[in-house]
Amino acid sequence: MTNYLESNKERFLDELLALLRIPSVSADSKFKDDVRRAAEFVKEKLAAAGLDKASLYETPGHPVVYAEKIVDPNKPTVLVYGHYDVQPADPYELWHTPPFEPTIRNERIYARGACDDKGQFYMHIKAIETMMATDGLPCNVKVMIEGEEEVGSDHLGTFVAEHRDMLKADVILISDTSIISNETPSLEIGLRGLSYVEVEVTGANRDLHSGVYGGAVANPINVLAKMIASLHDDNGHITIPGFYDNVVELNDDERAELAKAPFSLEEYKQDLAINDVAGETGYSTNERTSIRPTLDANGIWGGYTGEGAKTVLPSKAFAKISMRLVPNQTPDEITTLFTKHFTSIAPAGVTVKVTPHHGGLPYVTPVDSVEFEAASKAFEDAWGKKPIPTRGGGSIPIVALFEQELGVKSILMGFGLDSDALHSPNESYGLFNFYKGIETIPYFYKNYAQLKR
Ligand code: BES
Ligand code: MN
Ligand code: MN
Repeated sequence: MTNYLESNKERFLDELLALLRIPSVSADSKFKDDVRRAAEFVKEKLAAAGLDKASLYETPGHPVVYAEKIVDPNKPTVLVYGHYDVQPADPYELWHTPPFEPTIRNERIYARGACDDKGQFYMHIKAIETMMATDGLPCNVKVMIEGEEEVGSDHLGTFVAEHRDMLKADVILISDTSIISNETPSLEIGLRGLSYVEVEVTGANRDLHSGVYGGAVANPINVLAKMIASLHDDNGHITIPGFYDNVVELNDDERAELAKAPFSLEEYKQDLAINDVAGETGYSTNERTSIRPTLDANGIWGGYTGEGAKTVLPSKAFAKISMRLVPNQTPDEITTLFTKHFTSIAPAGVTVKVTPHHGGLPYVTPVDSVEFEAASKAFEDAWGKKPIPTRGGGSIPIVALFEQELGVKSILMGFGLDSDALHSPNESYGLFNFYKGIETIPYFYKNYAQLKR
């Protein structure tokens, strides 16, 4: 196995670079054909790795790629999930090298999707190829790579429900999360959920002269800014009535367990060039980004933002707002609470509209399972260290749906770093992480085949 990996290293990397050259941005219809091209590329590589039935499945959005290798119906089955779509690369001018012309600098691959998630799911295809070309597959494997994760996986729930038999598995294996550092491997055991809304505040029926009308007519931007500011109190608590009602509070032991993960506040601040952190009183930085829910404006616009100055009292102001959820909050409940509250705080003189976007449920992986043990041991085998269980802050909406629709739990065996700049300019993925991942994954199959009897 090590020999195969060593002698095919260059090719594995070249293939990933070719995939990274395809701008598969799911959010922007301009890239629709490129998204399909990426799907075709993945399908071909799955077939080339030796998997059967490699095909594209159409959805009302972007296609799902699927392939499988059933070696023995009596062996356990692993379903690998990943996404070949990427976030928009904007703002392009902040990239040191173009986002879709992957470049290797300082032992890192720089490109949009390098870590999230092309570099990460591609490790699985190469690990499967390596196992098949050497000792054989210890488990059956099914691979499903979707093209709409970055836009909320809207069509994947239906796809999964309609292909229950095809997707039947004992465990779902996903590399789309982070480890603490290359010296401290970790396994994420939780994901936050998401509720995403867009709000629109309307004042007068048209933009007005801010001298002629200013002072007498509500300014939607002023109003929106005040409304958004009121959503947190001075302790960083969210003020929406009922928002915390279903939040599962961790007990002291659980909090102490999570606090064991090494963390340097100084390095954290330095990395982000901030002079202090900010958040909910009574919780550590790690807790604020994992076991606590949040509310953030992601974008705000309205009025005149062009060059120079224009004296205008705008008719409308908008914002996109996301709320990260924790067990047992649900996107439906939180979206309803938000809408009710936000409309109720609108002052006289404006009207407010709330439009829900996508959402997703939070998820927690049980650690007392053979699945978790197989993953934990895989890290020990490949890294010589036991991984630290961590609760992650990001969201992968399909994970909770997998459990609902298939009754199967997911293992979040990601190899990225938070500093890989996912969704930011200059996203990168370490060559070390790419190769180490390919080395670690086969241990999971080996351990799982032994443990699951
Ligand atoms: N891979 C990320 C999620 C992630 C990143 C989890 C790092 C844990 C650590 C995923 O591609 C993602 O970006 N998800 C979106 C949700 C989606 C509905 C847009 C997110 O978390 O914003
Ligand atoms: Mn991802
Ligand atoms: Mn992402």
